[in-house]
Amino acid sequence: MRCGSGTRLRRGGNGGRPPVREPAAHERVMASPETKSNIFLRALPDARRAGQAPETLGAYPRVRMRRNRTDAWTRRLVAEARLSVDDLIWPVFVQDTDGETEVQSMPGVKRYGLDRLVEAVGPVAAAGVPAVALFPNVDPALRTPDCAEAANPDNLVCQAIRAVKAAYPDLGVICDVALDPFNSDGHDGLVRGGRILNDETVEVLCRQALVQAEAGCDVIAPSDMMDGRIGAIRSALDAAALDEVKILAYSAKYASAFYGPFRDAVGSGAMLTGDKKTYQMDPANSDEALREVALDLEEGADMVMVKPGLPYLDVVRRIKETFGVPTMVYQVSGEYAMIKAAALQGWLDNDKVVMESLLAFKRAGADAILTYAAPEAARLLKAG
Ligand code: PBG
Repeated sequence: MRCGSGTRLRRGGNGGRPPVREPAAHERVMASPETKSNIFLRALPDARRAGQAPETLGAYPRVRMRRNRTDAWTRRLVAEARLSVDDLIWPVFVQDTDGETEVQSMPGVKRYGLDRLVEAVGPVAAAGVPAVALFPNVDPALRTPDCAEAANPDNLVCQAIRAVKAAYPDLGVICDVALDPFNSDGHDGLVRGGRILNDETVEVLCRQALVQAEAGCDVIAPSDMMDGRIGAIRSALDAAALDEVKILAYSAKYASAFYGPFRDAVGSGAMLTGDKKTYQMDPANSDEALREVALDLEEGADMVMVKPGLPYLDVVRRIKETFGVPTMVYQVSGEYAMIKAAALQGWLDNDKVVMESLLAFKRAGADAILTYAAPEAARLLKAG
């Protein structure tokens, strides 16, 4: 490690006499054990041994990191991560009554009736957003313990799929597979005696996936976290000659309190008994996320997802680095609500925070982002 000569003198190389001169500012920086550059320099020999770093990286004052930040054009040239409209997926809520309803806990987000849905999706499709994800708010009278409505080929979400695909054949349509919108218990799986049944749930999920795929859904996205559902759904789709339908597995879906506003939007929150900790992941774990992804890939997932987003960027990074497969991330309702709440108070700059949060997902390694801010992000990207 190179140190400033003045510093060496002070350390006793001068026979105990007072230093010849005070160290220069940059020498003091280099000598301070807490500085980032020193930590980096200490780590350097290891990086070199591993062949990950060039022979010399240089040091201040010859190296000045701020040079590349001086002008907007240099910053553009050296930017490592980039967000484009191609990275966005817009989650859209659908309701079974005509018109539209604002979602109180998600300012700017609405639920659309089938009479408004196509119109609402129009500008987003025109802006070049590749896909939407449809979420139904089902009539409470149709929510039952056996979740039969999930497998009704004419249910709300199937009607929404047909309407959107008819209007925009080139727009990707993604649909959740999970029982919560159809369940009088509010859970993603069938409940018996207070327990969430796994294998019985998977059978219903397969029927749900089939009706959605037959209605024209391009990507089946199981968000239920039952074991073995990816393989079972893949087999069911293939057996029905729906082998081109993709599966986006919510592989690392955490038992998160950030889903609160979503449950308001689809009306499942009030019905939910207990929590989802026996099937969704513990926020403490990330090795487990890798195992979930490995299993889902073996079972036939085409893409995997991490959810929520910002609090789980480390998981996004680990998955992308370990598997190198298409990795999506969901900026969930609570994350969106936090940004909007602060922006509405005037405490945060909405546009800047939205774009910074989305860029962070790209930097972490995500290939695409589900975000309620997709329409505004597309607009901001276009505006430059
Ligand atoms: C349902 C589902 C949830 C979300 C997506 N699909 C909620 C949950 O698991 O309770 C959350 C999305 C969001 O919060 O934006 N399985």
